[in-house]
This record gives sequence, structure tokens and C-alpha cells, in this order.
Amino acid sequence: MKVKGKVVVVTGASSGIGRATAVAFARAGASVVLTARNTDALEQAVRECERAGGRAWAVPADVTDARAVGHVARRTAERFGRIDVWVNCAGIAVFGKFGDVPLADFQRVLDVNVMGYVHGARAALPYLRDQGQGVLVNVSSIAGAVSLPYAHSYAMSKFAVRALSASLRQELSLEGVRKVHVCTVMPATIDTPFFQHSADYTGRRTRAMPPVYTPERVARTIVNLVRAPRREVVVGPLGRLVTAQAKLLPGLTERMMAVQTDRGMLSRTEEQEDTTGTLYDPAPGIGSVDGGWHGRRWTAVRRTAAVAALAGAAAGALSRHRRWG
Ligand code: NAI
Repeated sequence: MKVKGKVVVVTGASSGIGRATAVAFARAGASVVLTARNTDALEQAVRECERAGGRAWAVPADVTDARAVGHVARRTAERFGRIDVWVNCAGIAVFGKFGDVPLADFQRVLDVNVMGYVHGARAALPYLRDQGQGVLVNVSSIAGAVSLPYAHSYAMSKFAVRALSASLRQELSLEGVRKVHVCTVMPATIDTPFFQHSADYTGRRTRAMPPVYTPERVARTIVNLVRAPRREVVVGPLGRLVTAQAKLLPGLTERMMAVQTDRGMLSRTEEQEDTTGTLYDPAPGIGSVDGGWHGRRWTAVRRTAAVAALAGAAAGALSRHRRWG
């Protein structure tokens, strides 16, 4: 499907990947409706989309509220006459040992990352079906293929997103609906404020695990999915390596990811106070696309560091694998 002139809704558009995606669609000539909770950040993102050459409009909503998400879809259709693409991107995480994470926070991550996507899909699909064509994009993660320690609800949610996409594809196929596509995007680590926004009970400073890729890279992938839909796309070469390895050597990859997360994502020296992050309230201010993790710089150094860390994690996991027989 051509992108120019299409009507696109992006959830989680006030920040990071969602905001970069809204701008990328605007640059490609689409009309974009941006939704998230923070009006100031959304208005700023709307201006960025307009500067990129597209029409853009902010309709604030909390994705855990099914009625509010339905309202976004209705207002989009009233204003632009249709909905061609819906991108479910709003997401959040809580980090911490299983017993340390408050149950309410665990539940909230599932509400945002799973039910938020369900609400988006239920709001968008009737329009796509009625028009006989369209694309629903669900942003999962490589954590939807290989779990992470200290991020149970997040990993559960990202596996669930893949399952939701697959079930919807199956249903559409059984109904003979050929031109409505459901695509899953699985990014590796991306340079966004995601880690600053996360709730955290690890006691250790959480940081983006290198190598870190740019949000614009994910945005380009999402725009290209509208042009040429695919079931699932992994973004970032290391993500492709890890997900391929998980198919061949699932046990080893699981243990590698545990070591790699413990070493690469959580600081051994810097401490952090417990926080609910932006689970319940949006981040103040005008927001941003990148998170200051230098996704644009030092990529060669970071790749080397990541490969070295992965090799170390693989060696550690392999020796444990041998010990356990
Ligand atoms: P971000 O924190 O910059 O953006 C998250 C967006 O979701 C923000 O606009 C935020 O306001 C919105 N949001 C959160 N809770 C909401 C709620 N209840 N209602 C409405 N909007 C809400 O993080 P980022 O990185 O841009 O995350 C976007 C998606 O990409 C998420 O689904 C995340 O899981 C996924 N992802 C991120 C990766 C990363 O390394 N940054 C890697 C893989 C996937």
C-alpha cells in the first residue's frame, strides 16, 4: 500500500519510537493522528510532523481506557474520513526481582502493553475491514522471543503481543480478508527515554543494553511494512542474531540473555531508588525521540563491546550448560 495520502494513527506518539514513527509517516506524506497521555509533548510532536511535511493532529488518551481509545478512532474517522494504518506502540516496563515488584505495577504493565494493544486493535480493525484494506502494526520486542530476567511482566507482554498478532492474522485469513494485514515489529535495544520512563525496583541503575539502535531505524521499518507487509520483523542486527540463535539453541540463549541483562542492563556501581516511573502518570515536559543512549554515536565501539559481552555471556552460559550435563 502506498503511504502518501494515507491516514495513520500512532499510540505512544509523545516519545521515542512512536514519535519517530509519526514523523516518518508525516515525511512520507501521510496524515497522522498522534495519541499518548501528555498533551504538551503530543503538541510538540505534532509540530515536528508538520515540519516534516505531513498533516498531524493530537488526540490524547490513556491506552488502558478502551472507551478513550475508541474515541481516538472515531475522531480520526470523523476528521479524515478513514483509518488506513494503526500502530500500537505505547509501552512501559517495570524492572525488579519477581518478589520485589508490587503486584499493582506488574498488573499495570500488562494493562498498558497487552490490553492497550487489544483496545487499539478493537478500535482500528472495524475501519480496516470496512475499507477492505489496511495495516495494523504491533510493536513487540526481542523480549517477545527471548525473555529477560527482572522484567517478567514486560517479557510476558511482548510474547503476548506476538500471539495477539498471530491470532488476528489467522482469523482474517479464515474469513478470506486478504488485504488487511497485521504485522509485528521486534526491536532490539533502541535509543529512547524508555529506560528513564520505566518503573524500577532493582536498586541498580538501569541503562540501555548496547548495541543501541536509533528510533528512526524502527520508524523506517514500520513505514516500509505498510508498503510491503510482513508477519514479523526484527530491527537491529544483534536482535536478528539473538532471535535466530534462540530458535536453534533456546536453552543456551535463555541463559546467555540472563547473564547479558544482568551485566549489560543493570549497573554494578550506581544505585537507584525505587520508582514507579511513568506507569501511572506521563513524563512532564515536551518529550523527545531519543533517550541520550548515544544510538547515533560510537556504533563500531558499541558493537565490539556488545559482541565481547555476548561472547562472555555465551562462555559463562555454555560452561554452566556443560556442568548441568
Ligand atoms: P518511550 O517511553 O519513549 O515511549 C513510550 C510511549 O508510550 C510514550 O509516548 C508514553 O507516553 C506512551 N505510554 C505509556 N503508557 C501509556 C498509557 N497508559 N497510555 C498511553 N500512552 C502511554 O519508549 P519507546 O522505547 O519509544 O517504546 C515504544 C515501544 O517500543 C514500547 O512498546 C516498547 O516496549 C517497545 N520497545 C522499545 C525498545 C527500546 O529499547 N526502547 C526495544 C523494544 C521494544
